[in-house]
Amino acid sequence: MTGPETSVENKKPHKSRRLPRAARAEYGLRQLARMALYSQTANALRRAVRNDRKSIQAGLSPPPDERVTRDLRALFSLDIKNVEQGYYPMPRDNDGSLFKQISRVRDFFADLPEANRRRRDDIHDEVSEEKRDKRPLYYMQNFHYQTDGWMSEDSARIYDIQVESLFGGSANVMRRQCLVPLAKYVAGKDQRNVRVLDIACGTGRFIDAACCAFPRLDIHGIDLSEEYLHEARKQVGRRPNIKFSLAKGEALPFADDNFDCVVTTFLFHELPPAIRRSVAGEIGRVLKSGGIYIHLDSLQLGDDPDYDGLLEGFPRYFHEPYHGTYVRENLVELFGAAGLVEQDTMPLFISKLNVLEKA
Ligand SMILES: C[S@@+](CC[C@H](N)C(=O)[O-])C[C@H]1O[C@@H](n2cnc3c(N)ncnc32)[C@H](O)[C@@H]1O
Repeated sequence: MTGPETSVENKKPHKSRRLPRAARAEYGLRQLARMALYSQTANALRRAVRNDRKSIQAGLSPPPDERVTRDLRALFSLDIKNVEQGYYPMPRDNDGSLFKQISRVRDFFADLPEANRRRRDDIHDEVSEEKRDKRPLYYMQNFHYQTDGWMSEDSARIYDIQVESLFGGSANVMRRQCLVPLAKYVAGKDQRNVRVLDIACGTGRFIDAACCAFPRLDIHGIDLSEEYLHEARKQVGRRPNIKFSLAKGEALPFADDNFDCVVTTFLFHELPPAIRRSVAGEIGRVLKSGGIYIHLDSLQLGDDPDYDGLLEGFPRYFHEPYHGTYVRENLVELFGAAGLVEQDTMPLFISKLNVLEKA
């Protein structure tokens, strides 16, 4: 594909062009291989939850399997359609070598008994005392019941396996949907002059996808975890136009009106309601006027009644202390108070994309 990956001046996405059958087949095979792997790790998670008495009592009513399959298929079709429309090149998930994958899956399985013990006994404060003075209290928890919370190399190493297991191998696909509003924004501009901030970039999966689509964008990723930032640097590799730094979403170390685009993927449901407001305010502050904010996070209650049971049950199984208030949050009001006006929104399987503009 010509366009985003080769040019600096970004062209407007061209009229849809159907991909050759071989390219579609290759995409399908790669995604099937990922889904096959993550269905194994997801089964292990499911077994753990099913065997846990407290979880059984909490009840979980996911949508019927056919519905999940249909929505997953629609998401993968959208992914390929975006390629055909020129929003991004044929995606590479960049999961690393087979050896790396196997060793991470092994680590994921090795950690499961510990995560299950925490789930069973509802323990979520087993995190390093050392880090306590540097981090806000709400951050110091075993989110997802994972060992060390967000604060160790081991946690960063298995994070992507966990998330892909929860999402049936579709986490990267959902993140990639943020590239569509980004492509529309970048169209006709010189990529080098477009400044993007990814708040809570985690292990760098969105930035990695953004680099493949727009290699010259000026991107800054921040996170509160040194170890996740380290993993993100490894994922993206050395590139002069990509920077990472340790910072808090609610106190961004950047001047006002600094970025053309701010992105957050799966951050807001991890934040207490008051911190959500502070982070929204910071996004409004650092965005240039006319700049866009791309927000990807969990589906919310009422978006699709078939998913409400899953959204209600999920935080009890995976220690998500703020998910319950997030799924009830009025996003238009939350971001409106920060000067951000909603332009577009769309559900994406169990997540939702919102695109907002700073007036
Ligand atoms: C669920 S992960 C999402 C990571 C990534 N965006 C993704 O798509 O996978 C949440 C991330 O938010 C980070 N985080 C949580 N609270 C934060 C805050 N107040 N400021 C910056 N990062 C934060 C954590 O360290 C973690 O990397």
